[in-house]
Amino acid sequence: MALDAALQARLAEAGQEHLADAVRAAPEAEAAGLLAQVEELDLGLLRRLVDELVLTEPEAHGPGHIAPPETVPLAADEPGRARDLEAAEQGEAALREGRVAAVLLAGGQGTRLGFDGPKGDYPFGPVTGKTLFAQHAARIAAMRARYGAGLPWYILTSPVNDAQTRASFRDAGFFGLDPESVRFVVQGTLPAVDRGTGRVLLEAPGRLALSPDGHGGLLSALRRTGALDEMAVSGITTFFTFQVDNPLIRVADPVFLGHHLSAGADMSNLAVRKREPLEPVGLIASIDGRTGVIEYSDLPDELAHARDDAGDLLLWAGNIATHCIEVAFAWELTEGGLRLPYHRAVKRVPFVTPDGAAVIPDTPNAVKFETFIFDALPFAGASVTVEARREEQFSPIKNATGNDSPATCRRDWNRLWAGWLEAAGVAVPRDGSGEPVDLEIDPRLALDAAELAARIPPDLVIDGPVALGPAGP
Ligand code: UTP
Repeated sequence: MALDAALQARLAEAGQEHLADAVRAAPEAEAAGLLAQVEELDLGLLRRLVDELVLTEPEAHGPGHIAPPETVPLAADEPGRARDLEAAEQGEAALREGRVAAVLLAGGQGTRLGFDGPKGDYPFGPVTGKTLFAQHAARIAAMRARYGAGLPWYILTSPVNDAQTRASFRDAGFFGLDPESVRFVVQGTLPAVDRGTGRVLLEAPGRLALSPDGHGGLLSALRRTGALDEMAVSGITTFFTFQVDNPLIRVADPVFLGHHLSAGADMSNLAVRKREPLEPVGLIASIDGRTGVIEYSDLPDELAHARDDAGDLLLWAGNIATHCIEVAFAWELTEGGLRLPYHRAVKRVPFVTPDGAAVIPDTPNAVKFETFIFDALPFAGASVTVEARREEQFSPIKNATGNDSPATCRRDWNRLWAGWLEAAGVAVPRDGSGEPVDLEIDPRLALDAAELAARIPPDLVIDGPVALGPAGP
């Protein structure tokens, strides 16, 4: 296939002239597709990323001065409860007035779990096998019903899983939600490049090796697809982001929203206490006086283990990618291009050579580029970090086995519902080690323990695994 001279010159300037050869050599049926992918590359950005993150040894600079962040602690006493109540009123008012949207981050590749399909299709429900998407949808429906609010739902997908995600929603009748109230927003991709030369890899003779541009890509995707405009026009001022693989999350929790709003924050974080000093979660901290997140791999061991006078971890605030973000702030961050820094990840990426031979490398051969949503924090004028009880709001499915796997998620989920049932006076059978039977409580039946107590009969008998659906027992 012939190539436009201008494109050829731009490829040469970006150090990617091999892509012109690849288009010419591609099988006829695939050449047009490959050319379209090449034309879509942001060659200026690519040149910069390759220069700064591949061909130059990244400078090892320390993480700066790190201190615990300003936080809203868990309510442990009467003043704390009054403070949360006041925040909840503010959050509820924003929900009722239709000023809030929910944004699900579901564009990841789920490589650690190794599930075939979008992670949201994972059937985690211990009794009914309900999927992560179904659980989030039920919670959104329950929030809409409780606050009589629109609470539009934006779902970030990536080209890798967009079609399958849309099909899952269609096949499930949008889980009972109005299809018009659910919007899919596709994030961008960036090419993987050879680690030695910075040249873009091809995963097949007619296809570039592309992967999602990281969850920071949410911001550009919201802007590019018109979702930010749509939010602004419909009076939405704040959106709540959450991860697809954490079914415990309280979507658009009014307490968190209220603390964010009352602080006049641009972007806020929900944090959970780290399980142990070296737990592989990002750490929310004050870095050189500004709130930010340090990746666990960048946190010096000594700091990770540091304790305060009470013997608790000094730097305890684990990041769970759950934020409140002002629409105006997202707008600012994407004006004239995304302002977030790019990170490099050195990975094993299968590729084809110019003569079409497929190579499956045994060692990391490529660099992928990503942006992270939490890198927006240092740009925020004000930011609050609100502590959440881990057992109530965070048990993600990241790995196939071990910590943060389907088994630990189901365990934590059963424990939470058992606690709610027992608080309502219902006995829950437990095994020899004290673990409750498998349980499910639909958010449309109860969004919290008090609502459950009001909606189930006190003489409810549970003698085995049970799923309490929207209509109750
Ligand atoms: P993770 O990195 O923890 O999950 O992203 P992952 O990408 O699905 O899984 P691995 O790392 O490949 O095993 C945290 C959240 O951010 C979303 C994910 O879908 C998840 O909800 N995410 C991640 C995106 O939406 N886009 C991305 O490019 C990356």
